[in-house]
Amino acid sequence: MSGTRRQPERSTPQRRTPARGASRRAAAGAAAVPEAARPADETAPPGNARQAHQQRGSRLDPHVGRYAERAHGMVASEIRALFAVAARPEIVSLAGGSPYVTALPLDVVGDMIGQLVTDRGSTALQYCTADGDPGLREKICEIMALEGVRAHPDDVIVTVGSQQALDLLTRIFVDPGDVILAEAPSYVGALGAFAAYQADVVHVAMDDDGLIPEALEETIGKLAAAGRAIKFLYTVPNFHNPAGVTLASSRRPRILEICQRAGVLVIEDNPYGLLGFDREPMRALRADDCDGVIYLGSFSKTFASGVRVGWAAAPPAVRDKLVLAAESAVLCHPSFSQLAVREYLSTQPWREQIKTFRELYRERRDAMLSSLEALMPPGCRWTRPAGGFYVWLKVPDGLDTKAMLPRAVSSRVAYVPGTGFYADGSGAEYMRLAYCLPPPDRIREGIRRLAGVMEAEIELRDTFGSGGTHDNMGVDTPGPGTP
Ligand SMILES: Cc1ncc(COP(=O)(O)O)c(C=O)c1O
Repeated sequence: MSGTRRQPERSTPQRRTPARGASRRAAAGAAAVPEAARPADETAPPGNARQAHQQRGSRLDPHVGRYAERAHGMVASEIRALFAVAARPEIVSLAGGSPYVTALPLDVVGDMIGQLVTDRGSTALQYCTADGDPGLREKICEIMALEGVRAHPDDVIVTVGSQQALDLLTRIFVDPGDVILAEAPSYVGALGAFAAYQADVVHVAMDDDGLIPEALEETIGKLAAAGRAIKFLYTVPNFHNPAGVTLASSRRPRILEICQRAGVLVIEDNPYGLLGFDREPMRALRADDCDGVIYLGSFSKTFASGVRVGWAAAPPAVRDKLVLAAESAVLCHPSFSQLAVREYLSTQPWREQIKTFRELYRERRDAMLSSLEALMPPGCRWTRPAGGFYVWLKVPDGLDTKAMLPRAVSSRVAYVPGTGFYADGSGAEYMRLAYCLPPPDRIREGIRRLAGVMEAEIELRDTFGSGGTHDNMGVDTPGPGTP
């Protein structure tokens, strides 16, 4: 480790040529899934023997030949096992995006939930309608109003986290091979949902001010020239997961204008919007275009991820389709969770609680940024989030964050390699660092360990040269607990 203090460079996530990962693979079928990503038994017999083997199945999975085409895109990454190890207490995990729910007044919440069952158990423990509890939808409209969104409860559907909204939206809009535009990098859970429906994700470059309008325009133009229809743009405008950046207010009208002109629907995924450290919430995209923007929200980061309550606010026809899709998926969303959230919003000082969360995360962000500044080797650069949970870090040239992860875990620190956030599995020169869960002193210790691992990698690189770029061609879903 070099002890000198370095100037932090502002990280500018690269402009990338649009990548076509998930659905190109899917269109080509299972044969396009790289060997490393396939189940071991599937790689064994070639040609006809393999077909017979698939029809019969195998000892490991007797059903292997029966899966639908889209199930071939659902592969666990090799790093999933490492994340199980990373959950051990001796490891500082900067990997997961789990909120620090311990900061909630758990005794008060416990009493509130007990009282809910006593007073309204016959409703809370019963089925409800697929669009969600009307009282909760009213509260959701009040929350969206903080970001300038004017919505009626009938515009809203409650979902099982915003993750389910992503799934339902992809289900109703996307056929195999359809194009979805998404920032480069993009939220791993969204990429997983898009891959499950065999979408063709085309990444659009972003920088420290979020999605770049010119890059969006150019990408849309190229796709139009190639005769490709775009189903929607997926964007996380505030405190981006994983990039940590926020779409500048000056860019927002321009993004909307480009999408309106090209007839591209926008999905605005906003779980972190109320978690800004230095300013009031920014105006949502949907506030200025309620026909062309579907807004996704969540109580996971502002209350508790375990209640699994999120929502979508959508134009009436889309909202109706979402309700039908939700009915076929889950009949209705858990009444119990919905009423618990409604009760929390009605009886508890939730705005104060969000302030508590913001202060806590700000302190952790500061601990991470100051440690990075003090300890990271030359050639690293990183983003400086003004809210949310994540720092996006570029490692020195020639280092591969996926190859380095086992060494990091051996040194008792974990992060998420950048490969999880690109549909084509590129991004090995980046990592996502989350500061939401560990306390500041653990964050500082984690960064100290990470710096040590990187110094050792740099020494190896300088001695033996770099091992080349990583190409796993897959949505690298690290697994549960890594939202
Ligand atoms: C950008 C983004 N969208 C959606 C989700 C899913 O959140 P939920 O817990 O509401 O399903 C997450 C979770 O981390 C996220 O970061």
